[in-house]
Amino acid sequence: MRIPTPATRHPKNRRRIVLLFITGAILVAAALLVTRFPSRPTADHITAPSDEKYYFSSSNYDGVRSKFVTRDNAREQTSIEYPLTSSQAINAFITQHIEEFDADFKESVAAGSSFNEPMTQTITYQITHHTENHLSIVLYIKQDTMGAHPLAATRFWTFDKTTGRPITTRELMNNADEAQDALVQAAQRAVTAQLAQRDLPTSNVSDDITAEPLEHFIVADETSIGFPMGAGAMLPSSYGEITVSIPVDVLAEHMRHPLAQSLFRVPPPAEPSQPSTPVPSTEQTAKPTPPPTAGADNVCARKACVALTFDDGPGPHTERLLDMLKTEKVRATFYVLGNKAGGNGATLKRMLSEGHQIGNHSWGHTNLTKVSSKNVRDELVTTNDAIRRVTGHAPNTMRPPYGATNATVQAEMKSAGLASVLWSVDTRDWADRNSAIVCQRAVGSAQNGSIILLHDIHKTSVDAVPCIIDGLKKQGFHLVTVNTLLGSPVPGQSYRSR
Ligand code: NI
Repeated sequence: MRIPTPATRHPKNRRRIVLLFITGAILVAAALLVTRFPSRPTADHITAPSDEKYYFSSSNYDGVRSKFVTRDNAREQTSIEYPLTSSQAINAFITQHIEEFDADFKESVAAGSSFNEPMTQTITYQITHHTENHLSIVLYIKQDTMGAHPLAATRFWTFDKTTGRPITTRELMNNADEAQDALVQAAQRAVTAQLAQRDLPTSNVSDDITAEPLEHFIVADETSIGFPMGAGAMLPSSYGEITVSIPVDVLAEHMRHPLAQSLFRVPPPAEPSQPSTPVPSTEQTAKPTPPPTAGADNVCARKACVALTFDDGPGPHTERLLDMLKTEKVRATFYVLGNKAGGNGATLKRMLSEGHQIGNHSWGHTNLTKVSSKNVRDELVTTNDAIRRVTGHAPNTMRPPYGATNATVQAEMKSAGLASVLWSVDTRDWADRNSAIVCQRAVGSAQNGSIILLHDIHKTSVDAVPCIIDGLKKQGFHLVTVNTLLGSPVPGQSYRSR
C-alpha cells in the first residue's frame, strides 16, 4: 500500500475544496432558477430517486423471478412487478409495454393538481402456461388517477421462447383467413353468451368484436384459447373486464399443425359420436354430500364474483381468519388436509355453519401424479370420509396438492364425485411472507370469476385478509365460495376460474 506524503496530499485537498465550492454555487443557482419558474416544480417530485425503491424476489414459476419497483409518496402509490424470465428478449418486450403504461401514469401524476389522495398504480403478472418452448403471461395494469375512469387493462401473450417473440393467433392457425373469420365468430358467440349470463345488453356487441384484440392469446388450459381482456379493450369499458375463452374443438380443423398441437390438446377429426358410459363407482361411502345451500345462490350470474380459497389447514390462525370473514360477511373455501380433519372438528363445523365451503386437499399433501391410482383413490376417499365424519358433509371439490394432476387423477376424482379446482390468481403467499405483497397480488390480479389461492397456515397470509377483502370489495367483487362461483362443478372436470 502506498502512503501519500503530505506534499502530495495537500494540493489534492485544496482542489477538492474548490470543487465543492463550485458545486455548491451551481446548486444555489439551480435552486434560484426553479423558484423563478414555479410552473415546473412537479418534475423534481416525479423523478426524485429517493421515492423509487426496488427489490428482487423469487416467484412460484420455475425459472422466473420478479423485480418489484415501488414509488410511495403523497402524489402516487406505485407498485410494479416485472417478470424476469431466462429470455432477455421476452424481458425486454414485456418491460417496454410496462414502461409505456408507467410513462402515461407519470404524466398524469405530473399534471395532477390536487392530491387529497395519492394516485395509484399496480402492475402485476400471472404466468398461465410455461414449458421448455412456450410461455403464456398476462399483465394486469390498474391505474387510478382519481379521474372519472380508473384503468383496468391487460396485455397477454404466448411467447416462443427460442425467438423471444409472441405467437399470433394467425400463426397459430396457419395464417388462413377463414380460420381468422372462424376465430372472430367464436369470440362473438362466447362474449354474447357471457354478457347474457350477466344480464347485460348483447345487441350490436358483435360489431365491436374484430380480429384486432384477438391478435395475441394465452394458454390457460390446453383445451381452450384464452383472451383475458381488460375493461374497454374490446367492448365499451362499461362492460368491465371480459375473459374470452374459445374451446379448441371449435377451431380444431384449423389447428392440426405442429405449433398448435404443441400448445393445445387438439381433438382428432370428428367421428360418429359415441354415447358416453358413466364410470361405475363402488365407493358409495365417498360420494359427496355438500351442504344443501351450496351452489343455491346464483349472485354470480348478475354480479362480479371472486372466490378466496385457503389451503393446507386448518392451522393455528384459522379461527382468527374465520372471525375476520364473519365480521366482513364474506364466504370462502377451505381445502383441508384429511389428516388435519379429525383434530379440528370444531373448526370444520364452524366453517360450514358460517356458510363457508370445505374442499378435499388429499390426506397427506401427496403429489397425486406420483402415486398409483389405488393410492390416489385412498387419498380422496379417506379425506372425504374424515371430513364427513366430523361435519356430516363430504366435499364435492378437490384441490390436488401442488396443482399436480393428470388423466389418472382426474378419472379417480370423477369416480369419487369430485371436481378438480385449481386457481387463476396465485398470491405465492408461501414464498413471500409479506402481507402487503400478498394483498397486492390478490387484489391486483383479480378479475370476475377468479379463484384466488392462499394458505391459512401462514400468519402473514391471514394478516393480509382484511386488506384483500377491502381491495376486492372496492372493485365491486362479491366474495363467494367455489360452489357459488362455479354453479355446479362437474365431477372429473378441472376448473381454474369461472
Ligand atoms: Ni397445498
